[in-house]
Amino acid sequence: MKRIRRRFGLIFTLLIMFSSLATIILTWMVSHDIIFSRKDYRILYFGYALKDLALFIIALLAVVVLIIALTKRTATPILDLSKAAKEITAGNFDIEVEESGRKDELGDLAKQFNIMIRELRSNEYLKKDFISNVSHEFKTPLAIINGYGKLLTEQGISDRERVEYAGLIVQESSRLSALTANILRLSRLGSDELSIRHCAYSLDEQIRQTILLLEPKWQEKNLTFQLHLPPTLYMGDKELISEIWLNLLDNAIKFSPKNGLIDISLIDTQYAYQIYLRDQGPGMDKETIKHIFEQFYQGDTSHKKDGTGLGLSIAKKVAELHGGTIDCSSKPKKGCTFTVCLKKYGK
Ligand SMILES: Nc1ncnc2c1ncn2[C@@H]1O[C@H](COP(=O)(O)OP(=O)(O)O)[C@@H](O)[C@H]1O
Ligand SMILES: [Mg+2]
Repeated sequence: MKRIRRRFGLIFTLLIMFSSLATIILTWMVSHDIIFSRKDYRILYFGYALKDLALFIIALLAVVVLIIALTKRTATPILDLSKAAKEITAGNFDIEVEESGRKDELGDLAKQFNIMIRELRSNEYLKKDFISNVSHEFKTPLAIINGYGKLLTEQGISDRERVEYAGLIVQESSRLSALTANILRLSRLGSDELSIRHCAYSLDEQIRQTILLLEPKWQEKNLTFQLHLPPTLYMGDKELISEIWLNLLDNAIKFSPKNGLIDISLIDTQYAYQIYLRDQGPGMDKETIKHIFEQFYQGDTSHKKDGTGLGLSIAKKVAELHGGTIDCSSKPKKGCTFTVCLKKYGK
């Protein structure tokens, strides 16, 4: 911008010099009787020269004002943008440039720039949130392992205490290992390199297999399953989809009361398969439902130790990768119904 201003300035200085020189030469020629030797012509000439000079000065002033206004209008938003870009490079995302409702390219640029900053800001906040959540989740089990590990090294503790401390260390280290596995799963699901390997397989069989896999957990609570799973051939990533059933069933079992019933039904609709999982657990209020799919969110603190708060966000991501959804409907003390909707391949 400075260069344009300098160039304009140079051109106008040259113009002024040229016209001033021409007027001086002409005036010199007239006053030495070289041209317009008659008196009346000379008066006429000086009158014209004076008028031209006045007009020239007015035009010059107008042009100078116009140039200043134009450069200011163009330069200010560009300078603002360059200042904002410098701030972003320095890691400050809490800025925005003024849009001032301009309809030209600069207005458009400012608008797009602000959209980009907002996007970067939300990503940055998500990243910060994620890192602080991960470190927080790691801190507690590590502190427990450390504390009981130290106690174990002390002399004079009884055998009962030794077994108890060792048990707590094992429990917390399994929690850490589950947490690490879930974080890795989540990051894998979010990475661009993840490729979904579609294959045709029996969806009803996969759900039955998952129930069998979790048998020790539901046996312990003496739970009953009521299944309506007609033979269904589904096209999707078998390994990824199994994460949905594992997480939903794990929750249903965890939150079910002793001797409770879990009801699972699969419905074949025109464009999708709908799977309903109902339990007789404590259910949730509306506020809790709003957050359950967020990473690390745990609504029921009494079961905090049995989970990582990542299960539902993993399940939801997997469903979305298959063009599907997961929803929850529930009321306090009325159990939960999770609905998984998986789009049919190619529909
Ligand atoms: N079947 C359910 N009944 C009651 N609450 C549930 C159920 N499933 C999930 N939730 C709520 O959703 C939260 C998040 O679930 P999830 O992501 O699986 O994490 P985690 O099971 O590790 O706590 C749980 O902490 C709980 O508050
Ligand atoms: Mg869970």
